[in-house]
Amino acid sequence: MSSFCQPVSRLVRKKAFLIQREYRAAIARSLGQPLIVEDISALEKVEDTEVIVNVEACGINASDILKCQGEYTEKQKLPFIPGFEVCGTVKQVGVKVEDFKPGDRVIGLNKEKLGGFAEECALDQSDVWPISKKVSFEEGAALLDTYATALLCLHRRAKITAKDTVLITAAAGGLGLAAVDLAANVYKAKVIGVCDTEEKASIVRDKGAFAALKFDPKHLRDKIKDYTGKKGIKIILDAVGGDLFKEALKYVTHEGKVIVAGFASRQIPQIMTSDLLPKSYSLIGVSLTHYRLADREVYRLYFFFALMFKYFKEIFSAFFLSFFLFCCK
Ligand SMILES: NC(=O)c1ccc[n+]([C@@H]2O[C@H](COP(=O)([O-])OP(=O)(O)OC[C@H]3O[C@@H](n4cnc5c(N)ncnc54)[C@H](OP(=O)(O)O)[C@@H]3O)[C@@H](O)[C@H]2O)c1
Repeated sequence: MSSFCQPVSRLVRKKAFLIQREYRAAIARSLGQPLIVEDISALEKVEDTEVIVNVEACGINASDILKCQGEYTEKQKLPFIPGFEVCGTVKQVGVKVEDFKPGDRVIGLNKEKLGGFAEECALDQSDVWPISKKVSFEEGAALLDTYATALLCLHRRAKITAKDTVLITAAAGGLGLAAVDLAANVYKAKVIGVCDTEEKASIVRDKGAFAALKFDPKHLRDKIKDYTGKKGIKIILDAVGGDLFKEALKYVTHEGKVIVAGFASRQIPQIMTSDLLPKSYSLIGVSLTHYRLADREVYRLYFFFALMFKYFKEIFSAFFLSFFLFCCK
């Protein structure tokens, strides 16, 4: 879809006779091939609601990799500059931008236009959030997508409480660690993470998980039985798909909630709707990208709380979060 691409004019190399400002960018010119670092010319005109950011750090998201390989659900038109989790300082703003000025430290999530793997990135002002010096550029680039998604999954859709046991499948990934952090430290739920090495398991436990298990069906079955007795798991947050998703479904409890957030294994599992009935459990999809398109207010609200969590982690509680989300609705 062309609207999902950085304007191609930005990717055209400077003509020799023009003296125009340039910046470097890593460009995907063909799918499944290494990115090419080139100097490209900056647009002369900044759109009215646009913010140009000097990129100091940009996350390499799982979806960036899929897009570069041509395996993302929405195919990317070539050429394009990948990267949407941007953190840096404002370089320039359009005439209708009132909330940002040059020099401000910001995080941007450029889910539509991408363009983050570059020295400069143009974003709409509605995709930009201010950050304080307390947040490093590197942390900022990895913060919002993960924490806002985890909050949407756990708070808005699963309605997590301290009584719940939560199974997080891709626990050592970006989204998984954010979910472990929120579920264990804000909601005080009993969190069981799944990952593939002992080294990662120790990171997951350090984040606050009650337990971190390696993905081995027998090991999972025995340990989950030990930890939950006959009760099973109330909330499953899955971003892996494939066999792990199918295995995890065996442990969902009566009236449990299963959140489908991604397919890191690249295998999209199929289930029969009749499977939902014996335990009356709910299957819930969450896509941050589509929240942005469908409900911008909620999208921005959850980013705001993800940032608040970063600033006020020590005093950030489930009560505080529920109270403010209630007031904001
Ligand atoms: N729904 C949304 O709005 C949303 C938002 C953010 C991310 N996502 C999706 O969620 C998934 C994870 O994102 P992320 O940002 O956390 O990525 P990430 O930081 O790259 O982490 C990937 C995670 O997936 C696990 N994994 C990968 N392949 C696996 C396999 N074959 N079997 C078991 N585990 C596997 C990894 O486990 P190990 O580390 O143990 O190997 C790791 O924990 C991606 O598919 C991403 O597109 C969705």
